[in-house]
Amino acid sequence: MSDESGKGLTREQWGSRLGFILAAAGSAIGLGNVWRFPYLVGENGGAVFVLVYLFITVLIGLPVMLAEFAIGRAAQRSPVAAFRALNVSPFWGAIGWLGTLAGGFFVLSYYNVIGGWTIRYMLESLGGLMETAATGQSKEFFGHFIGQRQQVLMFQIVFSGATMLFVLSGIGKGIERACKVMMPALFLILVVLIIRSLTLPGAEAGIEFYLKPDLSKLTRSTFLSALGQSFFSLSLGLGIMLTYGSYLGREERIPSATVWTASLDTLIALLSGFAIFPAMFAMGFEPGQGVGLTFITLPAVFAKMPAGQYFSFLFFLFLFFAAVTSSMSLMEVATTFAIEKFNLKRVNAVCLMGIIIFLLGGYSAISLAGDPKVAGMDFLDALDYLCNNVMLPVGSFLVCVFVGWFWLDPALKELTNNGKLETRWWLHVWVLCVRVLAPIAILFIFLNGTGLLETLDTWLRQ
Ligand code: PHE
Repeated sequence: MSDESGKGLTREQWGSRLGFILAAAGSAIGLGNVWRFPYLVGENGGAVFVLVYLFITVLIGLPVMLAEFAIGRAAQRSPVAAFRALNVSPFWGAIGWLGTLAGGFFVLSYYNVIGGWTIRYMLESLGGLMETAATGQSKEFFGHFIGQRQQVLMFQIVFSGATMLFVLSGIGKGIERACKVMMPALFLILVVLIIRSLTLPGAEAGIEFYLKPDLSKLTRSTFLSALGQSFFSLSLGLGIMLTYGSYLGREERIPSATVWTASLDTLIALLSGFAIFPAMFAMGFEPGQGVGLTFITLPAVFAKMPAGQYFSFLFFLFLFFAAVTSSMSLMEVATTFAIEKFNLKRVNAVCLMGIIIFLLGGYSAISLAGDPKVAGMDFLDALDYLCNNVMLPVGSFLVCVFVGWFWLDPALKELTNNGKLETRWWLHVWVLCVRVLAPIAILFIFLNGTGLLETLDTWLRQ
């Protein structure tokens, strides 16, 4: 339950340390790992993207996550109120606002659309999906599905409704319990999928694509895409981990919880790649399919397994749950915002925000089916680009500057539980990352990836 009293004294806390890690991992692990990560790997030249992604996750993602948890636990508030509670310049409240807008509204709007796809695929697994996929037509199936506006909108409504229900039932009962069951189940089915994918004839080419970096594929946008994906996948830069940290008990160890969360998230992303790429090459699909990659490749793998339809059903069911545990963390931000700003009851806030978010998402869904386009992109792609390549990096940059330069001592106290935990070497590395390395890297990757650096350079040379 969120901090509706605003006083932060009687906040509900996570039932256990494991509960917290699984809930944070539940927010982190979602469509970002199974849908977004593989298609970005496919579009950005394979292994080289994976490599850049891993570097960025360790050197930038992890430090930002530590920082967000520290702010959250110290402030015991939702993102917008947190910075006020810490008695720092109101400017930093911008992090909360930016996160609320990007996460609570923009990301969630199109996340619901893709979440709806998982439901459709779950049902179709027991319907005609396997027969179609067995004849190599899963790409056509996908294209046909996203072209049917009413269908897509209907499934988007079902997914949004599920998210709203979970958010209404609160942190402990809803989120924590669901994550404890669904996350291990998703993991197991991924392992089965990987075994099938790796044993298909012709799988080697996919393994090579996924594991053997081809440096010539490295471009400016590889770094920006990897940076955005790292933040998206770890749920950073939106105040989500800040909010989750605010429900964390004073005696818990933030650093180990962070390492667990980030490792689980990265593991699931990497495993998804192993399930997808060997099969993709074995079946002659293109890596640069874009948003459809997972939905096109995996049904084809299931179709080649005994009892494939049941595996497929279970897989999309678990993916649906992984997606819901992420979308409810996003919805929680929008809800808390409406409660605090407009003094609404929780249930009214959920309904009002649900409708606004649905309308915005509906636009993404319709745009994928044909038009309207924004700057030549589908509206979904445009929103995704704006959030992940602009708003999340900006949010995370501000978190680093805030913690590194304006709030370092309290942050260190928070991370060592007021000096009770030993100060280890990694704490010095963290300070270096959060003060210098991460902000400079984010700024550089952002300016370079968006082409602003080049513009700046030409302008300075004139
Ligand atoms: N991390 C989630 C995923 O990988 C998505 C998400 C992003 C959730 C940002 C919350 C905040 O699917």
